[in-house]
Amino acid sequence: MDLFVIRGGTPLSGRLPVRGSKNAALPILAASLAAEGETRLANVPALVDVTTLSAVLRTLGVDVHRDADGMLVVRSESNEPCVAEYDLVRKMRASVCVLGPLLGRRGTARVSLPGGCNIGHRPIDLHLRGLASLGADVRLEHGYVVATASSLLGAQIDLAGPQGSTVTGTCNVMTAACFAKGRTVITSAAREPEVVDLAHYLNAGGARISGLGTDVVEIEGTDGFAGVEHQVIPDRIEAATLLIAGLMTGGDVTLENVVPTHLTAVLDILRQMGAFVEIRGATIHVHAAGPLSSVSFVAEPYPGIPTDVQAQLTALLTLARGKAEVVDRVFPDRFLHLPELARMGADVRRAEGGAHVFGVKSLSAAPVMASDLRASAALLLAALSAEGDSILRRVYHLDRGYERLEERLAAVGGQIRRLTEAELSNCRPEELFSDHAPVREPHFAVTSPKSRGSRREQSL
Ligand code: EPZ
Repeated sequence: MDLFVIRGGTPLSGRLPVRGSKNAALPILAASLAAEGETRLANVPALVDVTTLSAVLRTLGVDVHRDADGMLVVRSESNEPCVAEYDLVRKMRASVCVLGPLLGRRGTARVSLPGGCNIGHRPIDLHLRGLASLGADVRLEHGYVVATASSLLGAQIDLAGPQGSTVTGTCNVMTAACFAKGRTVITSAAREPEVVDLAHYLNAGGARISGLGTDVVEIEGTDGFAGVEHQVIPDRIEAATLLIAGLMTGGDVTLENVVPTHLTAVLDILRQMGAFVEIRGATIHVHAAGPLSSVSFVAEPYPGIPTDVQAQLTALLTLARGKAEVVDRVFPDRFLHLPELARMGADVRRAEGGAHVFGVKSLSAAPVMASDLRASAALLLAALSAEGDSILRRVYHLDRGYERLEERLAAVGGQIRRLTEAELSNCRPEELFSDHAPVREPHFAVTSPKSRGSRREQSL
């Protein structure tokens, strides 16, 4: 298992390109299994989650490969099998996004219920209720969702849950509704830019979806949609992560290839904390003239502060002046990063429904453990700000959602080495960041049940 050694204390400074959005690419990749003909996706990042979902699609009779230009090319070769097995789905919850496309295009789906998750309870009852409203027969059998529908019928569907709407649930129902007879109206739909990007992909292929970006989405059912070429939007969560990295290290960072309007709530709170934030077209420039001030916040559905940025903002608040209260309305228990931040000297306390953060002057390097994708990002940022060498273990969490992050941060001054435990134990501290220190590729590959024992799928 890879780990990072992070030598903190260097302000990050320079320009950073932002990769394509993981959370837009995954539902679009899933939907493309239902497209008539070939789909070509640009700006899909090379992530473990993309590799995992591609492996799921291959088990569903779908050809997925990257062409010489880096485009992800997808084409359904057959209409079966229609089973997304536990062995792969447990690796990534977003595999559940194949439910709606399978049901719409093939009339049948058998998808493993996603496994547990470190950020909290993650049911899919809203997905299932929405698909049943379209006329599907939906049952749970031995840990699998078994859904069948000889035909789907447009319906009025509300997707409000106790923590707001459901992003992937909206994606599943919206995609299935493209195959339903008549009109479907989804109320309490998720408004996230990633849902809008999926709708753009579907509409480009002939679907008729309106109300994009609002909580009322209407779909005029047709016989599905054709595969098209589509460029995935930039990753707003990665963008927020990189901006916070710049501020936590007292640096000066400019992001390229972002959509600033996808980050309004995050940029607002950074300004409230005292950061300099300048938007020019598709770039965002930030730096901090001095220590930032604490500002309390609530993570909530778009257009609010994203829950996927909550851990990173909490890390930033550990170095701000004063006290802040953090609440996460989407995943109320998404605070596994707190004890690890405390190991680095942060003064953070779990509180009813959230956390209290008391700013300290600086953090101190320490060995810490990643628990989930965004918590690992928060710990990386904290380590980059702390004097000394920190060790971040279980970076496989990070590889799920950030493409070669250590290399990109190194390009703006970050000192991060990717090692195995054995390499670490054989490496003297003075060698860690010497010029001849070898750079190691992130190593991830996913074997799908079919390919086990033969070719291991390479990262996509
Ligand atoms: C998507 O997950 C994202 N993942 C998550 O990003 C993100 O945190 C989340 O939306 C919220 O914005 C992808 O897009 C691949 P939800 P999703 O359904 O769709 C409850 C990351 O770090 N709920 O919008 O699974 C649920 O428990 C990941 O990139 C139900 O009650 O999240 C949660 O409290 C983590 N019933 C809330 O709704 C349901 O049927 C929002 O969940 C579905 C969800």
